[in-house]
Amino acid sequence: MEMLTFTILKASMSSSPMLNKLLFFLCLAGASFARQHPDVDCVVLHLEKVKCTWNRHDNLSVNYTFFSWFHGKKASTCETYLTNNSLTNGCIQPYGDKLNRFYTFYTNLVYGNDSFPKEHELLHKVKLYPPTNLTVQNGSDLNLWFYWNQTDPKCVQNEVRYRTNYKKWDTYTVTDGKQNYCINLPSSRSQYELQVRSRLSKVCADSGWGDWSEPVFWGSSNSTESEQVNGSMFVWIIVYVLAPVILILLVVLLLRYERFRVIFIHVVPKPSLIQDAESWLPIPKGLKEGFKANYHEKACCVREYHQ
Ligand SMILES: *[C@@H]1O[C@H](CO)[C@@H](O)[C@H](O)[C@H]1NC(C)=O
Ligand SMILES: *[C@@H]1O[C@H](CO)[C@@H](O)[C@H](O)[C@H]1NC(C)=O
Ligand SMILES: *[C@@H]1O[C@H](CO)[C@@H](O)[C@H](O)[C@H]1NC(C)=O
Ligand SMILES: *[C@@H]1O[C@H](CO)[C@@H](O)[C@H](O)[C@H]1NC(C)=O
Ligand SMILES: *[C@@H]1O[C@H](CO)[C@@H](O)[C@H](O)[C@H]1NC(C)=O
Ligand SMILES: *[C@@H]1O[C@H](CO)[C@@H](O)[C@H](O)[C@H]1NC(C)=O
Ligand SMILES: *[C@@H]1O[C@H](CO)[C@@H](O)[C@H](O)[C@H]1NC(C)=O
Repeated sequence: MEMLTFTILKASMSSSPMLNKLLFFLCLAGASFARQHPDVDCVVLHLEKVKCTWNRHDNLSVNYTFFSWFHGKKASTCETYLTNNSLTNGCIQPYGDKLNRFYTFYTNLVYGNDSFPKEHELLHKVKLYPPTNLTVQNGSDLNLWFYWNQTDPKCVQNEVRYRTNYKKWDTYTVTDGKQNYCINLPSSRSQYELQVRSRLSKVCADSGWGDWSEPVFWGSSNSTESEQVNGSMFVWIIVYVLAPVILILLVVLLLRYERFRVIFIHVVPKPSLIQDAESWLPIPKGLKEGFKANYHEKACCVREYHQ
């Protein structure tokens, strides 16, 4: 019942009688074969093409025939199929009017009597290609300027990321429509690597980010490499040479300390032993006096320590 109202609704919305029949067929077929839906996912590439893929992660066993159309337009078969392992798993269709993304996009995969229709909202699913002609200029004002080209700047927001000497990336949003970026007072002894990516700005119904552009480099890469090597060498030395040495030193020191304590405790004999020792140790008289004096002081300390 639901399916029927859905079909009638669709039929009343569309203008072409061919499409009505097709939609009716699709809905019936969709109802009977809904169990094994090959999932179709679509993006608008650079406002130039629509790219759809299906079962990206599953095995396919048949070549589906692909149909698609924007709301109110005629269904068309796939213009360029994408294949993997000699099976079609995607399709690239022309996009048409720039405003098409504001309309619902319909797809249908057909194989024999099986048919898998799906509706897509592509408004925010635009993927802009990376900016082109990314160049860097060493400005006379001691700033580093980066320029690039992107389609329809008024509609585009760009994001820049750069890093020096292959360290962490820092990311910055560029004002809508701007196609340049400036780094103040760069150090020519570092190597700068910068990339740009784009998306439609809020004004034009924002989209997700496109891919990063190829990087552009500036600065001295020679010193960077040696610094890198030195850096890694330094870490290597610390980890593999200094750390074990320090560990061994610590162990030796600890052992020595323990021994000092042991010797200290054992060497200081009881007073009675000292008396005895006098008799069997050939200690010179002067030394004996000194030893005695020291001993008394130490015995005092030790006793206090233990209390
Ligand atoms: C995919 O196909 C390969 C070979 O055709 C098979 O070995 C594998 O089990 C299949 N995987 C799934 C998830 O169907
Ligand atoms: C092609 O299909 C295989 C599995 O059948 C998959 O591992 C591979 O990632 C696919 N390649 C592309 C480009 O989709
Ligand atoms: C699917 O289509 C491709 C290219 O159109 C073709 O090479 C391949 O043989 C077809 N596979 C099947 C199973 O029909
Ligand atoms: C496809 O549908 C026709 C008529 O509706 C039927 O005769 C035929 O057996 C079906 N084929 C398959 C593979 O189900
Ligand atoms: C931009 O790059 C394209 C090719 O990538 C080239 O044909 C074009 O002349 C370049 N434009 C500028 C302004 O450098
Ligand atoms: C950039 O310009 C400054 C001065 O204008 C100059 O000293 C420096 O060598 C230049 N660096 C590069 C990499 O061109
Ligand atoms: C690229 O942009 C620069 C200014 O940013 C402009 O002068 C140049 O004509 C543009 N090139 C292309 C091919 O659009």
